[in-house]
Amino acid sequence: MLQAAASGPDLATLVVRRVAGEPLEHLLGWVEFAGARYVVTPDVFVPRRRSELLVSVVEGIVRRRNHHLRAVPDDFGGGLSVVVVDLCCGAGAIGAAISARIPDAEVWASDVDPAAVACARRNLPPERVVEGDLYDGLPAGLRGRIGVVVANAPYVPTDAIATMPPEARDHEPRIALDGGPDGLDLHRRVLGAAQWWLAPGGVVVIETSAAQATETAAAAQAAGLTPRVVTDEEREATAVVATLPPGKNSGPPYAGPL
Ligand SMILES: C[S@@+](CC[C@H](N)C(=O)[O-])C[C@H]1O[C@@H](n2cnc3c(N)ncnc32)[C@H](O)[C@@H]1O
Repeated sequence: MLQAAASGPDLATLVVRRVAGEPLEHLLGWVEFAGARYVVTPDVFVPRRRSELLVSVVEGIVRRRNHHLRAVPDDFGGGLSVVVVDLCCGAGAIGAAISARIPDAEVWASDVDPAAVACARRNLPPERVVEGDLYDGLPAGLRGRIGVVVANAPYVPTDAIATMPPEARDHEPRIALDGGPDGLDLHRRVLGAAQWWLAPGGVVVIETSAAQATETAAAAQAAGLTPRVVTDEEREATAVVATLPPGKNSGPPYAGPL
């Protein structure tokens, strides 16, 4: 693969960097994810194969509940598309893969790291990728309209980062890994604010680990959502699907500019 990415002296340099521990995808400049290639710059998290579970789960939910999720009041000129937001998007591969599978979905992506935003703008329509802390950068017009929030947010407990493989520990941004003392700071925040943004019956699909799934589900419950845990043994992947019960949507009706 490195040979395909470079030749001559460049190849030798790439091999040295690879042997020194740089992730292959950072050297290639792309990652294979959910059947397609997406741009990955050396300053962003490398999308993992296990996160393909999120793409499959979102696709299934949108296809099964298409009619319901589309039945969102549409006073905002956004058409009848299902709105999907890839929060903590990194390179944006999850959102881009969802967009490829559900072409008529209105996919947005957001990340707090400018490097991630720049990379995601190469994989998704740039105007749909915003910078900000969790939901902060999203247009206010999306409040109460989002059918699916999908998130692979950081969930490594701070003290466990030192035990990660050097490829991650030394070559991926700390902000992409660090989930706080128990790893769940971001999960609590993503789930806690979801009710303000989800459409009635909307869902959060959030990646977690097998060991943390119970706690992620408890955070969803505490936020007024109804959680269930989904696993994929082949990909060694775990996610929590948390549904906002219809009628519990508390996002104030939006009446300002888009
Ligand atoms: C584990 S990486 C996952 C990236 C991408 N979702 C993926 O699976 O490839 C977590 C991402 O969350 C972003 N992030 C961390 N804290 C954030 C916050 N408070 N608001 C938005 N994004 C955040 C990081 O910059 C990083 O890109």
